[in-house]
Amino acid sequence: MPSGIRGLLARLGLVRATRSFRHALVARRDARPGEEDGSTDPFAALGGVAGSTLRYPESARYFSRGYRYAQRLPRGTSTGSTEEGAREGNPLEQFFDAYTEGPGIWKWRHYFDIYDRHLSRFRGKPVRMVEIGVFGGGSIQMWREYFGSQVHIYGIDIDESCRALEGDGVEIFIGDQSDPAFWASFLERSPTFDIVLDDGGHMPHQQMVTLECLLPAVRPGGVFICEDVQGAFQPFHAFVDGLTHPLSGIGYAEQATASAVHDHVGSVHRYPLVTVIEKPGASAARFRSERHGTDFPTSKWLA
Ligand SMILES: C[S@@+](CC[C@H](N)C(=O)[O-])C[C@H]1O[C@@H](n2cnc3c(N)ncnc32)[C@H](O)[C@@H]1O
Repeated sequence: MPSGIRGLLARLGLVRATRSFRHALVARRDARPGEEDGSTDPFAALGGVAGSTLRYPESARYFSRGYRYAQRLPRGTSTGSTEEGAREGNPLEQFFDAYTEGPGIWKWRHYFDIYDRHLSRFRGKPVRMVEIGVFGGGSIQMWREYFGSQVHIYGIDIDESCRALEGDGVEIFIGDQSDPAFWASFLERSPTFDIVLDDGGHMPHQQMVTLECLLPAVRPGGVFICEDVQGAFQPFHAFVDGLTHPLSGIGYAEQATASAVHDHVGSVHRYPLVTVIEKPGASAARFRSERHGTDFPTSKWLA
């Protein structure tokens, strides 16, 4: 046998041996109790499926597959446009369009639908809202008009001049949203809120610290909005991925106990430039998978 082919076969054997060794290692790791949900190794959890060998490299591959799929999706046939001005029924957009002078408001137009979808249930109620990024102050006027006279707004800005916008139902706090010590002293004075809207500096480190410090202070049923998360690979997106992956890490038994993340994250909504986290109304103590009815096809799913 020519030595080239012998070498090739030897190498093939080596490849096979290496592959089985790797599979054996992965199988041993899978057998360790409690690891499939990644409590100790978040990378293991990223692609983890109990009893399989799916792990982080595969998860990265599927991320890439989804990303490439998004690139080659055909254009849809959506009707309606976000550039047509106020559509009937969105009071925020109507306010914005009618607002032509006074303290400035600066908004992407498609945000109005997102706001109204997640915030309309708070209208007319004694709602407590934190708005990070006061700027001209026009958005505070917009929120007061939208929520009504019972709203209390905590405006946060790094710019001292924003203090001048304090007034009826509006408190202004001057500080740096990327500083956990600032949030600690803020929370000592005002410990809970229904809504947090981060429209501040828009840098990922600012957005992450703000979420880490304020999410626990959002009341059950409340909403956390982070806007201007610009760029497909802006790191805040990956941060939200990490935060929300454990939502589905409840195992495969038909009943599961919720963990702390379920107390703080009910659902996550990703929009162009905006991430919305809704907090559950009441903590789900357990998750239950239920079958109702009597007739089911015989299948491995019922084994
Ligand atoms: C985009 S403007 C806010 C716009 C306003 N919410 C509106 O709708 O018109 C951003 C604001 O964030 C403030 N800001 C920037 N960096 C900040 C930081 N690290 N902490 C707090 N506020 C910050 C700026 O001073 C500015 O007033």
